[in-house]
Amino acid sequence: MEVVPVSGALGAEIRGVDLRALESEQIPAILDLLHRCEVIFFRGAALTPEEHMKVAAGFGEVSIYPTSLLNGATEPTLQVISDGPDSPPAADTWHTDVTWVAEPPKYALLQAEVVPEKGGDTLWASTTAAYAALSPTMQGLLAGLEVVHDCQSLIEGIRRKSGGHDVEEFATKLREAYPPVIHPLVRTHPDTGRRALFLGGGFMRQIQGMHAEESRSLLDLLARHIQDPRFHCRWRWQPGDLAIWDERCTNHRSAGDYFPQVRSVRRVEISGDRPWFDAAA
Ligand SMILES: [Fe+2]
Repeated sequence: MEVVPVSGALGAEIRGVDLRALESEQIPAILDLLHRCEVIFFRGAALTPEEHMKVAAGFGEVSIYPTSLLNGATEPTLQVISDGPDSPPAADTWHTDVTWVAEPPKYALLQAEVVPEKGGDTLWASTTAAYAALSPTMQGLLAGLEVVHDCQSLIEGIRRKSGGHDVEEFATKLREAYPPVIHPLVRTHPDTGRRALFLGGGFMRQIQGMHAEESRSLLDLLARHIQDPRFHCRWRWQPGDLAIWDERCTNHRSAGDYFPQVRSVRRVEISGDRPWFDAAA
């Protein structure tokens, strides 16, 4: 197994591993790398949908996406995210996935299917490095703060992509099934013990116990902070590339520069646990 760093902050390409023939004994070493590097890449993995699900299952319980669950799904399925002339990129702001549930996913496995001729890269930010770069005074201020997350921005995205169809009934169902949840702003990583900013992008509504203006200013400051390239890595996709990232200590976004070209990726998530903050660690 060869490990090639992608940037100074996070990310590593793993070479010499055939994911199709992955043995369970190899998983701990890959997980260890994933926890250290926060996002890992397998160039040209080219997994079939069945292989994609099988590899994912090696990393934990594959979760059923909440909206699929609401639509009656009983088994996890691959989520296909396709953009094109009729569907502008929607994942082009920093976030980590599905923070509007009580137990957000811990890993995502995403494979590129259709890659635009130009653009369409994905960027990741290490929120561990971003937290570490803050002053001790700011770290102290953030420690123990809690943030309300909700699914409102997802609903707005569904509305935008609905093509005029009525989505209000589904939106109401979604809001009822997934009421706002509270997560720590600084999260202790369950596997490494390291602290990371836990930033859900547009899913974050309000810091608990603060005036709206104070909360907005602080969340804006952190949103600007993670834009610093010293916390980033960037992947130029080729069809069939697979990325696996740790949702608990990263943010990601697409470069959003490929409209109106077609870009299609498929993804599954691995179930995580309730985020927590250990003040003593
Ligand atoms: Fe995402």
